[in-house]
Amino acid sequence: MEMNIALLPGDGIGPEVIAQAVKVVKAVAKKFGHTIHFEEAPVGAAAIDLTGNPYPDETHEVCLRADAVLFGAIGDPKYDNDPKAKVRPEQGLLAMRKKLGLFANVRPTFTFPSLVHKSPLKLDRIEGVDLVFFRELTGGIYFGEPRGRNEQGTKAFDTNVYSKEEITRLARMGFEAAQKRRKLLTCVDKANVLATSRLWRETVQELAPEYPDVKVEYEFVDAVAMRLIQWPKAYDVLITENLFGDILTDEASVISGSMGLMPSASLGTDNKLFEPIHGSYPQAAGKDIANPLGTILSAAMMFEYAFDLREEAKAISDIVNRSLAEGIVTEDIAEGGKAYKTSEVGDWLAANI
Ligand code: IPM
Ligand code: MN
Repeated sequence: MEMNIALLPGDGIGPEVIAQAVKVVKAVAKKFGHTIHFEEAPVGAAAIDLTGNPYPDETHEVCLRADAVLFGAIGDPKYDNDPKAKVRPEQGLLAMRKKLGLFANVRPTFTFPSLVHKSPLKLDRIEGVDLVFFRELTGGIYFGEPRGRNEQGTKAFDTNVYSKEEITRLARMGFEAAQKRRKLLTCVDKANVLATSRLWRETVQELAPEYPDVKVEYEFVDAVAMRLIQWPKAYDVLITENLFGDILTDEASVISGSMGLMPSASLGTDNKLFEPIHGSYPQAAGKDIANPLGTILSAAMMFEYAFDLREEAKAISDIVNRSLAEGIVTEDIAEGGKAYKTSEVGDWLAANI
């Protein structure tokens, strides 16, 4: 197969972890006989420095041309403590999601047998956890209008808006995923308080008869926040709005024991983007110490979700599991054993795939 992949390294450790994913993707292509073309473009603080815009038009063109986008991380501390900064790196990420129509953010949480002891949660609660969030990504309070301040600047407001259509397309993805998994769908909302949540619930209830093999549960977001750490095995597929999904997927990442390892996919009708769920980790930038596995597992998701190449995806997750078992890991999970450099982990994975 011939594939065009846009590379958006972004900020902080982004370039280092993307470089390792590229090594692994090239090794997979060689092994399975695919031809891959890469095209790189700036995003985030890196793009602001170059062009003043965190998601420049040229970068958007590169993404549109590509079959899939592999993205590193966004964010730079020099913007974080300046509430008056006119342009922020994160705006690049939000613009990219919106302009590429990436309405579904797929964030799996699973455990690695060799890492379960690193989770702060008790072993019996997390062993074998396998759940996946479908977080709505281009609507809700992140984008709703009006937003801003009153004239005096003494009041601020954001608006949570959802249309039935936005809910339906996300929910359908969740139902379809559940059909291929353990057939349980949890709709996470705050329908006891919010009008938007009541529309979510109503819409999901209307769709449910089309998926008779899927059991649907409705749960309030505050209760899910609790049960997610009490008994995460209760969940299979969870669907939720943008802000709830943002918060709960960070919480869920703790279950696995290492946020550095969790991948994600952001899917639209025409475009697909893959990125680790960790941030730009600026303290580690340029030191060759960041864990590249979240990005490499995101590349595995890319083979599966963008190209329907499951064997290729499995080749990557298998070799990642082997590297963990054999201790070819970066310092964040080395635990007194030898800590390998980011680039060494990438080299080892590419050589052994
Ligand atoms: C995420 C991040 C982003 C979000 C930020 C950086 C805008 O936290 O991808 O979860 O809130 O969506
Ligand atoms: Mn987040």
